Amino acid sequence: MLQSAGATAANQSQTDIAFQRCINPSCAATYEARSVRTACDRCGELLDIAYEWDRASVPAKLSDFEAMWSRRYEPMRFSGVWRFHELLPFCRPDEIVTVGEGQTLLQQADAVAKFVGMNPGQLHLQYEGMNPSGSFKDNGMCAAFTHACMMGAQRAACASTGNTSASLALYCSATQKMKAVIFIGSGKISYGKLSQALDYGALTVQIAGDFDDAMIRVKQISEQLGIYLVNSVNPFRLEGQKTIMFRILEALRWQVPDWIVVPGGNLGNSSAFGKAFAELKQLGLIDRLPRLAVINAAGADTLYELYERRGVRWNDGKVDMDPIRAYNDHMDREGLKADTIASAIEINRPVNLKKCLRALDTMDGVVRQVCDQDILDAKAQVGAGGFGCEPASAASVAGAKLLRREGVIAPSDRVVCVLTGHELKDPTATVAYHTTDQEMFNKVLASRGVQKASHANRAIAVPNELDDIIKAIQLYS
Ligand code: F0G
Repeated sequence: MLQSAGATAANQSQTDIAFQRCINPSCAATYEARSVRTACDRCGELLDIAYEWDRASVPAKLSDFEAMWSRRYEPMRFSGVWRFHELLPFCRPDEIVTVGEGQTLLQQADAVAKFVGMNPGQLHLQYEGMNPSGSFKDNGMCAAFTHACMMGAQRAACASTGNTSASLALYCSATQKMKAVIFIGSGKISYGKLSQALDYGALTVQIAGDFDDAMIRVKQISEQLGIYLVNSVNPFRLEGQKTIMFRILEALRWQVPDWIVVPGGNLGNSSAFGKAFAELKQLGLIDRLPRLAVINAAGADTLYELYERRGVRWNDGKVDMDPIRAYNDHMDREGLKADTIASAIEINRPVNLKKCLRALDTMDGVVRQVCDQDILDAKAQVGAGGFGCEPASAASVAGAKLLRREGVIAPSDRVVCVLTGHELKDPTATVAYHTTDQEMFNKVLASRGVQKASHANRAIAVPNELDDIIKAIQLYS
């Protein structure tokens, strides 16, 4: 299956109900959906995809989407993104590109709930690592990739801490529709992710710098060379990422949870989640919104610093830029670079900052930061009580635990932690945590301030003797 999904309603053009709109309410300039831009021409702000909803054919209630799932022999309805096409109707059904993304799971995780301090049955983990490229990125990539194809792009580019690049590379290899050009910081990407980009045949440019440097370069280069940019400044990416929330609601039989907890890096996810819930509310498909918790790694905590410490708010679109500029200047002056074992969110200049502030406003949000020690302990618990995840993803569970301890989250709240990437993305961090090899522990973890691996599951070394092996198994099992 895959690719060009369903010719079912091929001729029924829906593009005219979608357009791009500047997020700055006092500008609100609009542009055609069928144009390539990552910022407002007039004021330079980020763009949203907006819809004339009164002309769209949106189901009357969310449970109507269940009928779509029953038609999963159609690629468009098999996709966990495109079966919600009516809620992101910027393309015609015959234009949709899919590789079967979005077959992800919501797991009730009672062992992890205990670790977090929640009542049994109340903590759920949303496994976005089950996507084809192993992370949530495929949700957004299929949308941006579809738009790139609509625009006739030949090449697509991104800067990445590893997952966006793996996703783009996969869409390029699986569809053969485009060439991937990816920018990564040197030494800043886990082997699992790098191996994907290389294996899928992406042109991989490793620049001397970190993600924030790569992001600046990829913007310049894609503009200069006319390459389609798929980072989350691309508003179509976020349309696809909205569907993570739709699938969570679906798994909860359309009941709205109390909290969505998500790691924050470039802040595309949190921005998309805020937009998803705002639109569902506007469409009368839900009657209340969950609260949002965005969790930074302590070594990459710009959002936390700005939102919780310096009080920066969306403020109806009139964001006070002074504290943001002051903090950026401070980082420049001090030469501060993001540094965390959660390499996926090792980002100091999140491009979606303003959209995330809007989402925090919409969803009565909070921001927290968690240290690498807490991230890895939480990750070990997710592995021992669930299906595992990569370090950045576990920030959500560590964050939920912190918010529980603070009393912000109640034990009886219904909480969903979004696990953004697959366990196998970063085996080095996992092995270093569980290892008995002190040298490896020191090199990978102690150098980052991780002191101990309290939840480690260590391999036991035994001589190659039957009796010794049996003795060891009896002793430890
Ligand atoms: N979790 C994982 C596993 C990620 O790969 C990322 C971002 C995030 C969380 C943060 O999400 O940017 O929406 O706040 N990774 C990007 C990349 C930056 O290049 O793969 P966000």
